Amino acid sequence: MADVQAGSNEPLVVVALAFVKAHFLLVAFSLIIGRGLYRRYVSPIRDVPGPFLASCSRLWKLWSTYSGHTELDHIALHRKYGPIVRTAPKEVSFASPNAAKDIFAVGKGFHKTMFYSVFPPKHAPDIFTEVREWKHAQMKRYAVTPYSLAQMQKRSGPIEGMIQLLMDHLDNYASDSKRLCDLSNLLHYFAFDVLGEVAFSRRFGFLEAEVDIEGSIKNIDDVQWYDGLVGQVPEFDIFLRNNPLRPYLPFWKPAPTTMTKIAVQELAKRKRPDGTYDSSGIDLLAELLRAHETNSEKFSIDDVFSIAHGAIFAGSDSTASTMQSFFYLVLNSPEVYATLQKEVDEAQKAGQLSPIVTYAEAQKLEYFQACLKEAMRVRPAVGLGIYRRVPPDGAEIDGRFYPGGVEVALNGWVLHRDRAVFGDDADDFRPERWFERDAKVMASHMAQFGGGSHLCIGRNLALFEMNKVLIQILREYDITLAHLGRPLQYHSTFFVVQEGLEVYLRKRRE
Ligand code: HEM
Repeated sequence: MADVQAGSNEPLVVVALAFVKAHFLLVAFSLIIGRGLYRRYVSPIRDVPGPFLASCSRLWKLWSTYSGHTELDHIALHRKYGPIVRTAPKEVSFASPNAAKDIFAVGKGFHKTMFYSVFPPKHAPDIFTEVREWKHAQMKRYAVTPYSLAQMQKRSGPIEGMIQLLMDHLDNYASDSKRLCDLSNLLHYFAFDVLGEVAFSRRFGFLEAEVDIEGSIKNIDDVQWYDGLVGQVPEFDIFLRNNPLRPYLPFWKPAPTTMTKIAVQELAKRKRPDGTYDSSGIDLLAELLRAHETNSEKFSIDDVFSIAHGAIFAGSDSTASTMQSFFYLVLNSPEVYATLQKEVDEAQKAGQLSPIVTYAEAQKLEYFQACLKEAMRVRPAVGLGIYRRVPPDGAEIDGRFYPGGVEVALNGWVLHRDRAVFGDDADDFRPERWFERDAKVMASHMAQFGGGSHLCIGRNLALFEMNKVLIQILREYDITLAHLGRPLQYHSTFFVVQEGLEVYLRKRRE
């Protein structure tokens, strides 16, 4: 301080610099607090309630994501503050179904935020990670047919092959009623291997070996941890995973995941010496290659690669998580399980189920359909928010105007607990609600597959395989939880990654 006073004849800048030098910590602290308070109070969303920390800084949502249970934080916040909550200085989370309808409405200009831009591969974004809306629309146009239900039906042979393999493995467990079976792991392996078949006509081999080969699944989980976390502060990505110095630092060189290596190999295998690609076959890669052949200008080979590769990342944990939730919830509700078994048994006795259950047969089992919808309602596979940005000119959401640039978050775990839509017991797993209330209205408010122009493109595959395999398992085995009532262990990175569904199996029929 003495120095500053002594230099009082000095220009103001010099005095200021001397002050900063002498009181660096105090100045830095004041700037951080000042910036936080500015963001808190000088903001068009300053009146939106929420945690004080969240209104000043993104530390709140960073911490919440790091905890692995953002979905529970979001539920708690909305219970405390109401349907609109400020979850970051520029971010609002909505609980009301009307808000979700406004945000998901096609053509209203709510585009993805930079959250998605950190998901790999950075140089070749896929349908999920592409934040340029025009480019996303272009890629999606060519991918819609390869992902359609009709195309999935054509792939039922390889999918049924995987179901048979799963049954063979489950039979092994069932041969000894005291042998503990980690159903969560087997379902996880199954979901991955189905994607290998669908995308590349290649089994990854997880189920065969009953092992996470080369730690690939764990590796994807780690990658998603990073994505979920750094996605909250995407500008830091350039200093971390996408640091331009990485290729030059031997100890920090980027290493492709096993799945990425496989995708690269599969594309290379189909490349002919003249540079064109063999596009014969029924898998996703073949169909995307055919779309490329006829529209190579707008649909590049990089697009083909990124979409086929992205399918593994977007479709594996999500489908596995949904199947795990289904069994966890059903098995923990003995009455539901009994009703479900009765429905399946009656269909079996009436000769309505093929040796490998077909998708069409599954659609006729109404109670099963209610259980599946209810599982996706209570524990949707995406645990983080689905993030969008208000268009530049601003927009109305649920009757209130928000200026351009405000980011909005929708969380299925919150939306699916709306009591006006789903009933006062919306927290509970109770499939009967799908017969008691207006099922169409409830279905229209489900967000387990997202919505609008970014509605999940893989939902046909997910529903196709789940409808077949879940009933197949229910028909073939009596399943007993090894730890009735024990909560499933899980964490939300983007998807809800679960483990610990341990069961005993008994074969129901020869
Ligand atoms: C039960 C299983 C699944 C669930 C619950 C699920 C859920 C979702 C959700 C919530 C979104 C929207 C994300 C957002 O807007 O931020 C989404 C998008 C997407 N999903 Fe799925 N998904 C499932 C299966 C699959 C499968 C099997 C695939 C691929 C084979 C897939 C590929 C994609 C892609 C590419 C997108 C991006 C769509 C776009 O932005 O236009 N998903 N999924």
